[in-house]
Amino acid sequence: MSFTADRLLLFGATGDLAQRMLLPSLCALHADELIAPDLKIIATARSEMSDAEFRNFAREALEKYMPADRRGGMADFLNRLSYQALDATTLDGFTDLAKAVGPTERGLAIFLSTAPSLFEPTIKGLHHAGLDGEIVRIGLEKPLGTDLETSCAINDAVASAFSEDRIYRIDHYLGKETVQNLLALRFGNIMFEPLWNAAHIDHVQITVAETVGLESRAEYYDGSGAIRDMVQNHMLQLLALVAMEPPGNFDATAVRDEKVKVLRSLRPVSDGETVTGQYRAGAIGGEAVPGYDDELGKPSNTETYVAIKAHVDNWRWKGVPFYLRTGKRLPQRRTEIVVQFRRVPHSIFEGKGAKMEPNRLVIGIQPEENISLNLMAKVPGLGAEGIRLRSVPLDIAMPDAFVGQHRRIAYERLLLDLIEGDQTLFVRRDEVEAQWEWIDAIRAGWEQSGLTPKTYTSGSWGPSAAIALAERDGVSWNE
Ligand code: BG6
Repeated sequence: MSFTADRLLLFGATGDLAQRMLLPSLCALHADELIAPDLKIIATARSEMSDAEFRNFAREALEKYMPADRRGGMADFLNRLSYQALDATTLDGFTDLAKAVGPTERGLAIFLSTAPSLFEPTIKGLHHAGLDGEIVRIGLEKPLGTDLETSCAINDAVASAFSEDRIYRIDHYLGKETVQNLLALRFGNIMFEPLWNAAHIDHVQITVAETVGLESRAEYYDGSGAIRDMVQNHMLQLLALVAMEPPGNFDATAVRDEKVKVLRSLRPVSDGETVTGQYRAGAIGGEAVPGYDDELGKPSNTETYVAIKAHVDNWRWKGVPFYLRTGKRLPQRRTEIVVQFRRVPHSIFEGKGAKMEPNRLVIGIQPEENISLNLMAKVPGLGAEGIRLRSVPLDIAMPDAFVGQHRRIAYERLLLDLIEGDQTLFVRRDEVEAQWEWIDAIRAGWEQSGLTPKTYTSGSWGPSAAIALAERDGVSWNE
């Protein structure tokens, strides 16, 4: 049902995500008048706090995590907030919570940013208090399970109270500007689509490199590892956007129908097509950092790096490898997609001193948002030494192309879509389950073969075996 909510109920409102992302995003939406003046935000978490104390808490978070020039209207924004303490493990508090939410004229949007173990009791509580009717929708923050089975259990619990068209599973990568730009690039231009297939593309690389280590999430991360933390969700979504067929239109069903076909076409990965690693002490940006075990305080076999050679078994992508890699404590924070085209079939310049390089399209997602297409061009000069060609980039830096437009953080887009009811950038149940199915099979393979992570020095690009994974196919990672 289509409605723009006039109530937003935020679970986990004192948590890290709420402080760093959710409250600043809502404040920015308020400042830009993108949310209705009558939208009330009801925050809930376990700690006892009055409305005034929570507003104070929120103000501190905004001052810490929002640039000063984006905090316009902060005082008015804080007035939208109220707070109700809740122990989500018992049903009792949910009736008071429903009272705090109050009657809604247009509808209620709920956002669960809590530990996944609280999802099921929270859904029960919402149902018990009548906070699950036709004009209530729910957003769920990851992790949605740790494998297919636990993810199905969460999905079943949520489905017991909410129909799929009212469930908004967040993958914050889908809210990033440049991720959406990938769709604009592919489907807003005539020139790429005819070449976007196995006949013209040699391979695709997707890199999500981070410099951070465990941060303050040791327990979660050690139980998850890079493949479940990053590949199962963000990287497979990026892969699906690169590989999907053009949808009939830009709506939730059409886009998600195409993505899920790709996810279901992923070939099970064979032995030797994955490499895992775990960082050791090293230095990043000249600063010494400890190894994973030291940071964790105990030995562990959890991978902090993974590289995978994936294949999409369909007509469009037959024989085109997708190389995925992600890791913590790598030398730079960089997320990018590289589409490497095939070489020209015949070079008329060969033997004239020209070294032909294939065209390469690089879509930079962060920290720089840019699109760069490497083209062969003639090096200026006279012809004594023949005609010389060199690869030069055709670059678009998004912030320069759109001067004066704020670069919005992913949660601004996603919270607005949750409030207004647009599911296009949220993950459907069949997608999540296809993602888990592929990941579970890889992990089962690791277990069977007794694979343990190779070590890599913090500040390096990961274990040498990951370089070899690409190099034995004649491919070099974009560095
Ligand atoms: C989260 C992961 O989903 O994404 C983190 O749990 C990771 O481990 C983060 O650091 C990366 O997000 P971003 O937006 O900083 O690339």
